[in-house]
Amino acid sequence: MRAMEFAAAAERANELRRELNYHNRLYYVEARSEISDQEFDAKLRELQAIEAEHPSLLTADSPTQRVGGAPIEGFTQIRHAVPMMSLDNTYSEQELVAFFARLQKGLGREKVRCVVEPKVDGVAITVRYENGALKHGATRGDGQMGDDVTVNLRTIKSVPLRLPTEGPQTFEVRGEVFMPKAGFAKLNEERDEAGEARFANPRNATAGTLKQLDSRIVAKRPLDIVFYGLADAAGADVPTQSAVYELLARAGLRKADIVWHADSVEDLLKAIRELDERRKTLPYETDGAVIKVDSFADQRDLGATSKSPRWAIAYKYQPEQAETKLLAVDIQVGRTGALTPVARLTPVFLSGSTVSNATLHNFEEIERKDIRVGDTVVIEKAGEIIPAVVVVKKELRNGSETTIVRPTCCPVCGSGVRQDEEQVAIRCTNFECPEQVKRRIEHFVARGAMDIRGLGEQVVGQLVDLKLIKDPADLYDLNELLLARLERQGTKSIDNMLKAIAESKSQAPWRLVFGLGILHVGAFSARSLMDHFGSIDALAAASVEDLLRCEDIGGIVATSIHDWFRDERNVLILDRLRTAGLSFAQAGVEAASDKLAGTTWVITGTLSMPREEIADLIRSHGGKVSGSVSGKTSYVLAGTDAGSKLDKATKLGVKVVDEATLAELLGE
Ligand code: IVH
Repeated sequence: MRAMEFAAAAERANELRRELNYHNRLYYVEARSEISDQEFDAKLRELQAIEAEHPSLLTADSPTQRVGGAPIEGFTQIRHAVPMMSLDNTYSEQELVAFFARLQKGLGREKVRCVVEPKVDGVAITVRYENGALKHGATRGDGQMGDDVTVNLRTIKSVPLRLPTEGPQTFEVRGEVFMPKAGFAKLNEERDEAGEARFANPRNATAGTLKQLDSRIVAKRPLDIVFYGLADAAGADVPTQSAVYELLARAGLRKADIVWHADSVEDLLKAIRELDERRKTLPYETDGAVIKVDSFADQRDLGATSKSPRWAIAYKYQPEQAETKLLAVDIQVGRTGALTPVARLTPVFLSGSTVSNATLHNFEEIERKDIRVGDTVVIEKAGEIIPAVVVVKKELRNGSETTIVRPTCCPVCGSGVRQDEEQVAIRCTNFECPEQVKRRIEHFVARGAMDIRGLGEQVVGQLVDLKLIKDPADLYDLNELLLARLERQGTKSIDNMLKAIAESKSQAPWRLVFGLGILHVGAFSARSLMDHFGSIDALAAASVEDLLRCEDIGGIVATSIHDWFRDERNVLILDRLRTAGLSFAQAGVEAASDKLAGTTWVITGTLSMPREEIADLIRSHGGKVSGSVSGKTSYVLAGTDAGSKLDKATKLGVKVVDEATLAELLGE
C-alpha cells in the first residue's frame, strides 16, 4: 500500500514538473501562457506539498528549487573551454562600411551574409548543459577564466534547470544576463525606501547581483537572460549563426527578440537604423547592434585578433539626448560628507521618462564644462536612470547666467569644507552635520547592513531633526517615550521599530562592520574581514600590515579601516554598541584551541556537516577559512563530489585531506 502510494506520488511529481517546466518556458521564454497564474501556482503548490511529504522525491532541477540556497564563501573559477572574447566597437556608419569592406576583402567576394542582433547591455555569461541538465554557468572574468555563478543563475526563471527532451541535450551557450527596465526601476524604488544606495543603471545592478554570494538575494532580483551564441555544440551540426537560433529555439532558451539578415552594406545600414527605432520598445537596455558573419566557415576563414574576432563588430548607438534649461544647482551631502552638485532642470522627456534632475558629478566637472545656472544644456541618458549634463549651449547665453561657485562651507550645517587630495570630492568637515548623520544612520539600518525594518529615510530624518539620535549607537537608547514624539507613527509601528532595533543586536558582525560606513568597506569586504579576523576587536586592533594579509583588502582600504578605528569618536560609538549588546564576534568561533593556528583551509565537496559548521570548527581552533585555493592555502578539506577546487589544489600541490584527518589534527 505504502509503496503504491509512493509510486503514485513519484509519478505525479514527474508529471507536475514536466507541466511546470513547459508553462515556465512558454511564459519566460516565449512570453505567452496557456494557463492562468492561479492555475500555475496551484500546480507549484501541489508539487511542493508532494516534495515536502516525500523528501526523497525532491530533485535539484525541480521547478520548486529557484529560491536560492545558503550563502557561499566565494566563487570558484571555471576555465572556459572556448575563450570568451569581446567585440571591437564602432561608433559611425562610416566605420561600419569599412568593416564590411574588410569582410569582402577577407573572404574575396561581394556578398557576405551577416546577421544583426541587438547588443544587450548586461553581463556576459556562458552556460553549459549536459544530458539535458544545467551543468554550470560562469561570467567572462578575464576571458580565460570566470566566476562559477551557477547558484545565482539557477534563480533566473528563463534559465531552464532541465531541457525539453525533444531538443539537444549537451552544449554550451553564451548569452547576456540583464535586468529588465521595469524590474530595475522597481528595485531602485525599493532600495530608496530601504535607504540603500540606488544602482546607477541596469548593467551595474546586474553585475552587482551576479556577484552576490547569497543566492537568496539574487532570487529576489529581477534578472533575465538572452542567449546569442554557441561555444560548444558537442558534435551537433550547427554550421551558421542562423542555425544557432534554431538550436536555441529547440532547447527552449530565450534568444534575441529581433534579428536582421543582410548581405550587402546597404542592407546592413538599413538594419542598424531599424534596430535603433525598435530597440526603444525592447524590455531591456541595448547600447548597440552586434553584426556577425553568418557562416561559421566564413568566421573561421576571417579568424580573430588576440582580443576580438574579425567576423563580428559592435555598432554603438549615440545615447539619447535632450535639450533643457538648468534652473538651479542643489548640493547633496553624502554619508562621508561629500558635497555632490545636482542639477535641477526644466522637466523634459527623454528615453521614456520625464527628467527634472541630472547629476553634475563634482565641481571640477562644472568648471571644466563651464556650466552656469540659466544655461541651456544637453543631457544624456546612457543606460543610467539619472541622466548627466554633457554639453552647454554657450551660444544661447544672454548674459543673465550665473556661475556656480565651489562651496566654501557646508550648505546644511555651515561648517568648513575640505578638498580631498586624491579624490575630487569636496567634503563637509563636520562629523555631526545633520545630513551626514542622516546618511550614516540610513546606511547603518539599511537592508544590506543591520537590516532594521521600519526605519526608512523619513523616520531617520525626523529622529535626527528632533535630536533624538546623532549616531548609530543612539538607536539602542531609543524607547517608547522618545519615539512617541515622531509624527504619524502609531504605537504598533513604534513597537515594531523597537523590536527590529532589539533584534538587530544579534546580526552577524560583518553586517555591523559594513553598517559602520567605513570608507571603501562594502558588504563583501566586511564579510572577508570578519572571516579573516573573527571579531571586531581583532579588526580594530589590526595594523595596516595585518589588514593587508586579508585576501580581499588592498592598500587604500586597509589604511581607511586603520584610520577609522583610531578616530576617538568612532571608538566611543563602538564602545556604546558593545555595551548595548551587539555581537562583535563571529558566532561559534570562541577559541577552543590553537591547534590549527597559522593554517588556512579551503572546504569543498559534500561533507558530513554543513560547510559553515566545519568552517566555524576550524576557526575555533585558530585556523583560517578561505573561499578559494591559492598558494597560501595550507589544506583543502575535500568531501565527496569535490570539483574544481580539488583540481586546483592538486595542480598547486596543496595538501588535500578528508574529515578524518581534520579530526586527527584536532586530536578527536
Ligand atoms: S557576440 C566574440 N552578441 O557584448 C564575442 N555579444 O562587446 C561574441 N553582447 O561580451 C559576443 N549582446 O557581453 C554578442 N547579441 C550579442 C550581444 C553581445 C550583448 C555583449 C557580450 C559581449 C560584449 C562584446
